[in-house]
Amino acid sequence: MNLTMEWICTILAVAALVFFFQALTWRRRRTNKRLPPGPRGLPILGNLLMIGTKPHQDLQRLAREYGPIMHLRFGLMPVIVVSSPEAAELFLKTHDLVFASRPPLEASKYISYNQQKLVFAPYGSYWRNMRKMCTLELLSNHKISTFRSMRKQELDLLVRHIREAAYSGVAVDLSSMVTSFSTDVTCRMIIGKKYDREDFGEKGFEATVRETMRIASAFNLADYIPQIRGLDLQGQTKRMKAIAKDFDDFFEKIFEEHVESKDENRTKDFIDVMLGFVGSEETEYRVERDTIKAIILDMLGASMDTSAATIDWTLVELIRHPRVTKKLQQELENVVGLNRTVEESDLEKLEY
Ligand code: HEM
Repeated sequence: MNLTMEWICTILAVAALVFFFQALTWRRRRTNKRLPPGPRGLPILGNLLMIGTKPHQDLQRLAREYGPIMHLRFGLMPVIVVSSPEAAELFLKTHDLVFASRPPLEASKYISYNQQKLVFAPYGSYWRNMRKMCTLELLSNHKISTFRSMRKQELDLLVRHIREAAYSGVAVDLSSMVTSFSTDVTCRMIIGKKYDREDFGEKGFEATVRETMRIASAFNLADYIPQIRGLDLQGQTKRMKAIAKDFDDFFEKIFEEHVESKDENRTKDFIDVMLGFVGSEETEYRVERDTIKAIILDMLGASMDTSAATIDWTLVELIRHPRVTKKLQQELENVVGLNRTVEESDLEKLEY
């Protein structure tokens, strides 16, 4: 009984709080005459219930009615939806500085080292400094070319597995093989070695990176009604804190391994490069341990899925279009020949 009363009081208190903030938003909205058109929303939830499992289609339907620049409210948060090339140019090019930052989402707090990841950092000197470091020190043509032989090793391994399976007439799951290939290449470039299931807590490394990306992009009610974030109604904060701890322990272990490594001849991975900047007077990059952890999370998230999905879709399209496959095979035969594997250095001659 006591427990029920406590719950009722909590819910009433939360509702009162939410109405209070809602009233503030309404007031602000009434005074702000320059908002673009948009559908009327419900109290508290705003237009959230108008968006279903296919948000792009729901937004397209609404944009047909309200125009290419439309105002919605998700919970208590104002949202502007832009849906024509001309309007997109206004937001992303003409006025890009105004809209360059991302909102401080819950995920950016818990699994982004307090917005230190490039993808979540507000536009400003930190973002510019880190972006410069990534472009010049980690992703430059020169640095990427130092990993060329490693990429070839991994590719040879992938081709060998597929060839062996083909010889023995065994079916392969190409998507899963491509994903593992992409994960292995990415990890060797960023962290210096490959990771197996056992290496990272209960779920394994790859699954945890994927869960991090999933939870970072999942709908979190607390982002739209911040007043109830303390209740963690979907259990996402608890999960994000657990993931953040797993990653933090993992990164600390990796840093130690790098600091203790005596192998002078190995190719410097991204962690070596960034650790070299910590506390250094000779660099313009202001890097702390947490900065490195945030940037590694960026790199893992930005490279694993994008590269795997690109290869995956290319293969699917080649299988679906034999005419294109034939043309590609013809070009490879002419430029590379049939006696050796295609190399990265062949790429500039492969126009198709
Ligand atoms: C086919 C593969 C890839 C595609 C299609 C792709 C696409 C993109 C796109 C569209 C963005 C902009 C995202 C936004 O601003 O919302 C982006 C950002 C980024 N990408 Fe990639 N990417 C790929 C591979 C990679 C790889 C291999 C790396 C690193 C090893 C990488 C690192 C980054 C980083 C660090 C950012 C964030 C930049 C910032 O916010 O300033 N990407 N990528």
